[in-house]
Order: sequence, then structure tokens, then C-alpha cells
Amino acid sequence: MLLEAREISKSFGDTVVLRQVSFGTGQGAIVSLLGPSGCGKSTLLRVIAGLEQDYSGTVSFDGRHVDGVPVHERGFGLMFQDFALFPHRTVAQNIAFGPRMQRLDRREVERRVHESLDLVGLAGYGSRTIFELSGGERQRVALARSLAPRPRLLLLDEPLGALDRTLRERLTEEVRAIIKQLGITAVYVTHDQVEAFAVADSI
Ligand SMILES: Nc1ncnc2c1ncn2[C@@H]1O[C@H](COP(=O)(O)OP(=O)(O)OP(=O)(O)O)[C@@H](O)[C@H]1O
Ligand SMILES: [Mg+2]
Repeated sequence: MLLEAREISKSFGDTVVLRQVSFGTGQGAIVSLLGPSGCGKSTLLRVIAGLEQDYSGTVSFDGRHVDGVPVHERGFGLMFQDFALFPHRTVAQNIAFGPRMQRLDRREVERRVHESLDLVGLAGYGSRTIFELSGGERQRVALARSLAPRPRLLLLDEPLGALDRTLRERLTEEVRAIIKQLGITAVYVTHDQVEAFAVADSI
């Protein structure tokens, strides 16, 4: 198992949201967390990402406990519905953000930007601002941004939730193909069964 969450419990005040939840995934697999609204999917993903404190249980990655490790040191890519792009910046600036934080040199940052844009089918869009894009294009930029730092684990929380069904179905397949092409391990949260079955190796 590359990622293993063991007996995770999490409460907000008196409300128990996660009760002894365990799951794991091997290298290169896409696992989908499927369940109705409010069942705790986002909370579990946030625990794995390192965005929640005060839970019980353990999260291990690559054989190491990561419970005390801060978000940015985990090397995970996050794509949450509300992880907004910088609207006034260009597509390229948005995608370059992660690689810059990793202090890669300028040429490598540019290479990552081009490579990520190619992957999501938006080559040539680098100099547009986010304002000038459609909803579907924005989602692709968000995906490109989460891929550019080449994360060891990609955590996606309803990444296509804002889109209409037709576009969502098409992008679901593309997202799967892109993740598979890069050999990235991914956890994909959705409340949509069709989407879960289309994207995941296991649910
Ligand atoms: N910060 C918080 N404080 C208090 N309650 C919270 C907090 N975050 C989530 N909850 C509650 O925990 C429960 C699970 O929330 P969560 O966001 O994990 O659900 P979800 O499965 O992702 O739902 P959805 O499919 O609607 O996104 C909900 O009842 C929610 O109201
Ligand atoms: Mg949620």
C-alpha cells in the first residue's frame, strides 16, 4: 500500500463525521471515495491532505506516518472545487505557482507549465487570464496546476462538480487518461456513481 488511512475518526463538536474509517491504495491506482452528500468524504480527504487536526487514527504514505507533517511537506497535489485559481493572473502564472514554490529554476518551471498545458489539451492558452476561460477550461487549468509539481499523490475533491453532465463525462475520461499516463496515484472524491465508475480502478 502506498497510502494507508487507518481507523480515522473525526468529530466536529458532538457530531461524529468519520467513525473508524480505513482504506488504502497501491502505487499508480486511482481509488474513488463515493458516498452521499455530508457523509464525510471531503473531511477524510482533508485529513489525508493534512488540512485537519484533531482526528484519531493514522495516515501513512510510503511506509511512513505523515500525521504530524504539514500540508506543503507532504508533496501531495490537491484539487478541490473551492481551491480557486488566481483570476487576474494568466494561465501560465497559475500553473507555475507550485513549481515556483518548489524553487525549481526558471527554465524547469517553464517546461512544467508547457508540459501540463499539453497534457490537459490547452497548449497555447498560457498567456490568457483565467477570466477569459470557460468553466471547463478553468477546470483543466486547475488540473494542470495540480499536476505541475508532479505530486506523488493527487487528491481530487469533486474536481468537476461545477460542470454540466456532458462536459463532466468527457473530462472524467480525460482526467483518468492523464493520471494514468503520468502513473500518479490518486484519490478521487465524488457523489456521482457514473463518474466514480468511469474514473476509478476501485471504489
Ligand atoms: N468545519 C466544520 N465544522 C463543523 N462541521 C463540519 C465541518 N466540516 C464539515 N462538517 C460537517 O461534517 C459532515 C461531513 O462533511 P463533508 O464535507 O466531509 O461531507 P461530504 O461527504 O464531502 O459531502 P458533499 O458530498 O456534500 O461534499 C457534514 O455534516 C458537515 O456539515
Ligand atoms: Mg465534499
